[in-house]
Amino acid sequence: MHVNLPPLGWNTWNTFGANINEQLILESADAMVESGLRDAGYNYLVIDDIWHLKERDAEGRMVPDPEKFPHGMKYVADYVHSRGLKFGMYSCAGYLTCAGYPASYDYEWLDARTFAEWGVDFLKYDFCFHPMTVRPDTLYKRMALALANCGRDILLSACSWGSENTKQWIKETGAGMWRSTGDINDSWESIKLLAQSQLKVQEYNGKGCFNDMDMLVVGMNGRGNVGFKGCTTEEYRTHFSLWALLNSPLMIGCDIRDMDEDTRSILLNRNVIAINQDALGSQPFFANNFIWQANENRNSFSEPHFKDYPLDTPIIAKYLDNGDIALGYFNFTDAEANRWQLTLTADNLGLPLNCGKTFEAVDLWTGETLRASNGTLEIDKLAPHACRLFRVKIVDK
Ligand code: GLA
Repeated sequence: MHVNLPPLGWNTWNTFGANINEQLILESADAMVESGLRDAGYNYLVIDDIWHLKERDAEGRMVPDPEKFPHGMKYVADYVHSRGLKFGMYSCAGYLTCAGYPASYDYEWLDARTFAEWGVDFLKYDFCFHPMTVRPDTLYKRMALALANCGRDILLSACSWGSENTKQWIKETGAGMWRSTGDINDSWESIKLLAQSQLKVQEYNGKGCFNDMDMLVVGMNGRGNVGFKGCTTEEYRTHFSLWALLNSPLMIGCDIRDMDEDTRSILLNRNVIAINQDALGSQPFFANNFIWQANENRNSFSEPHFKDYPLDTPIIAKYLDNGDIALGYFNFTDAEANRWQLTLTADNLGLPLNCGKTFEAVDLWTGETLRASNGTLEIDKLAPHACRLFRVKIVDK
């Protein structure tokens, strides 16, 4: 199934882990509608691992745990569809899922048919317990081909955590997104680790198959399955801005039946979602003034400077379909970033000084508008772990 934009939705894993059941799914489907998440674009509801019994049935089919899902999966899928949402499920390319439940190796065609019969629209496909004698790309091709022939449009969400050089072969398989990180947990350290690792794989990102930075922890506040220390509202805002700007699928992981105001204001910021869902689907790039890069290669002229990764205070830009530019300033350090680290010249955005134009930047979190002066947009300072995210318009001088 061709994927034009990063998929948006909600997934059970981050908060609920094994504690999932029909009631939770139905209530969460309702919450997606009533909270406005569906109308803001979040349309996939995905059940992750531990939904089934440890044994297949006599025909070899996977069996939803009858205590958790007493009416079976078609019933759940029908309800999810009735709320105007799409329904996602989880399996794995190995013998067992990561939590040790039946997985799809050598059952790919039967499982794809079963998922299609239940009304599944999205399959997250993990990488645990896989046979070492089969190439990793073949494992994903097996399920991709089965899905492509199952009679239903099912988006393949590959989840091999970037291992085995996933980035080099994943687009061969027809997957619509690929997990380019390990598992997230609800802490600033995890957000920083995953985000910094992603800055180096943007050339693999884009239309057709998006780099999936894992589910969001926004709003978890330290609770639930991958709940850990929790983050401040500012850190969650930085997390969401990064995932949005870097074209990651935005899969919410908190309990959406119970979101506080801060969580809503982040997840439902339509201007930020619009950056993620921009029709151009173009690749993000670094826009730092390279002479200020706090980077060991800062004096190296042997390679083009865009190969240097300013990991501490990256300024990341992405061209948008209407000629605007999305622009994010991030501070990954534990100290305040200063204006030397945060200077951007118009030239770095592809805007020559002599073109008669300058730019105006609307802050997508505060609504404030800044105008570039002398070809630069200088942010005075940025608190530790904070960001500024802008939509830049090119205007007459
Ligand atoms: C792996 C995946 C997670 C989650 C668990 C379920 O760790 O990366 O996202 O699906 O398996 O067991």
